[in-house]
Amino acid sequence: MSKAIISPSVLASDLSKLSDECKRMMDNGCDWLHMDVMDGNFVPNITMGAPILEWVYKNNPDIYMDCHMMVADPAKWVPEVAKAGGKSYTFHYEATENHQDVIDLIHSHNLKAGLAISPETSSSVITEALGNSADLLLVMTVRPGHGGQKFMPECLEKVKDLRERFPGKNIQVDGGVGPGNACQCAQAGSNVLVAGTAVFGAKDPKQTIHELRTAVDDVIAEKSKQ
Ligand code: DX5
Ligand code: ZN
Repeated sequence: MSKAIISPSVLASDLSKLSDECKRMMDNGCDWLHMDVMDGNFVPNITMGAPILEWVYKNNPDIYMDCHMMVADPAKWVPEVAKAGGKSYTFHYEATENHQDVIDLIHSHNLKAGLAISPETSSSVITEALGNSADLLLVMTVRPGHGGQKFMPECLEKVKDLRERFPGKNIQVDGGVGPGNACQCAQAGSNVLVAGTAVFGAKDPKQTIHELRTAVDDVIAEKSKQ
């Protein structure tokens, strides 16, 4: 299993001071910042687009922006997100039929490519070819669209399946993740934990990030003994 990566979701931050909120989490030891881009079409909400990402990047040149694109036309925003300083671009399987083309487009803009599946989508849609060409696989553990929803443990079966088939990939879980279920997520095979409410809402975000990381590190250590 790949190394632990903790990616706080900015949806739970004070969006009126987004750059500072990102910096605060970087100072608290996170690895990536999870930027939830919603277009009001793939999901009902609208959050932010490339112009905002660009300012966050200008203010935090060391940031790794893990862009979760909840958008109906994933190919459309690739050039702008790349120009804005995004590092990875994760789009939804449900949003397109041209998965391989979108992955190739993302790579041609020097971004890492992520492929996300919503709770109703089976992990079997991620074929060997698609899974191998993506850099990250995202299993949603809530329905995309809002922060602060209840974690859906039944989605972890899909994490298990993907970890078996793609042992070296970054496998991300997103939605309702926190210290209370991080061990379960890691044991299923997730090494990239996204947490919004649990981190931004914590009294001590540094401690919470540490707990999330420890959950993944413990599983990695356990597996290396086997
Ligand atoms: C949901 C978003 C998530 C969400 C996570 O559509 O993709 O990233 O903000 O937030 P919490 O951890 O609060 O569920
Ligand atoms: Zn997200």
